[in-house]
Amino acid sequence: MTNNKFRFDLRKKEKIKACKPILERLYKNHKKKYIELFFHEKDMVFEEFSLEHLVKAKILRKIGKKFRANVQVFPLSGKFICTDFIISTNSIKNGEVVRGREDVWGILTYESPYIAKKAIVEKNNIVLDLATGSGIIALFCADKAKKVIATDINPKAINYAKFNAILNGAEDKIEFRLGDMFKPIKDMRFDLIIWNGATLALPGDKEKYPVYCYGGYAGSNMTRKFIEEAPKHLTRKGKMQWLDPSLGTEKESATIKHIKEKWKNKNFKIVCEERVPPDDLFKVIDYCNKRLIYEPIHGRPKTPLEIKTITKGEVDEWMDLLKKRGYTHINALMIKVYPSTKFKIVKTKPKKIVFKRMNYLPAEWHFLSYQRILQLLKICEEY
Ligand SMILES: C[S@@+](CC[C@H](N)C(=O)[O-])C[C@H]1O[C@@H](n2cnc3c(N)ncnc32)[C@H](O)[C@@H]1O
Repeated sequence: MTNNKFRFDLRKKEKIKACKPILERLYKNHKKKYIELFFHEKDMVFEEFSLEHLVKAKILRKIGKKFRANVQVFPLSGKFICTDFIISTNSIKNGEVVRGREDVWGILTYESPYIAKKAIVEKNNIVLDLATGSGIIALFCADKAKKVIATDINPKAINYAKFNAILNGAEDKIEFRLGDMFKPIKDMRFDLIIWNGATLALPGDKEKYPVYCYGGYAGSNMTRKFIEEAPKHLTRKGKMQWLDPSLGTEKESATIKHIKEKWKNKNFKIVCEERVPPDDLFKVIDYCNKRLIYEPIHGRPKTPLEIKTITKGEVDEWMDLLKKRGYTHINALMIKVYPSTKFKIVKTKPKKIVFKRMNYLPAEWHFLSYQRILQLLKICEEY
């Protein structure tokens, strides 16, 4: 759904809650139809049982006798998370995907489910999920935490995240706040600050992209602010965790370099999990631009994820800047920070490497077969 004005109606909680058993039944007993509706975005006749509750809650709408999904509904470990399709095939005009600046970030196998399920939350923790998007990380933290505060700068994301909290019965545990970075939480402190933010390195201005992706020319705008401010919001035993697709060299990511400068006097143990070996930055850019999101629909008039077209000049300027700054590689890290007696950095690798190559923006769900989608959902379950 790329309509910036689309919002769920959050007033009738019971109606939202009533959708969960229906989604469960649909996913369990009619998996193929579930995938066609909520991953392939196909209009669908469904007469096996009533889906009216899903229509009332605006998860679906009726097109004649068929049902159409307004949002993707991602099933993960017993939860159902509604969010925008990254590409909505119902929002293609003149062969181009129409995106809204306020679109809510979709769920991709290698990303949000990974951190959500591996969150280092402990029982009774007070947690901050910064840049919550659909609220997926907050929802998983809420299983153990005493309380989660989830923030985002995008009002539409806050609406979706609130809806998902009600749908999954977590609304009493999660409080949502709208605003930029740490502003909505003022001087509060947390046992865990967790986030997966807007960290893509992209050419041109931020207005040319949805709020979910633009991280500045090097992708590090939010990360730098985070490194500056987050320690002030930690309790004595506070931890931090985030996904970091940082640029850098084959030897070191720019984030780690920055952390060494800014946190050298802090008693932090930084566990830096290298999820995929560093990959050649310019090959990855080429791969994303030429092959990943766009090609299956129509060739390539725009770079992936744009709202307004990026000019060749902007791309050239960006490439020059990246080269001048000495960025040669892209690193996919999960960073976990624990209190310690001194500053140290420990490098690790995941127990199981699922994606052997940097696959920054994998083909979107619409272009994957039913079997492949089931495989990827299984990977997410096993995280
Ligand atoms: C890639 S999405 C990830 C969303 C979610 N954490 C997840 O893992 O699915 C990045 C999120 O950062 C939010 N965001 C971008 N800039 C922000 C800022 N300055 N302060 C707070 N949130 C921001 C976006 O609205 C978006 O929801």
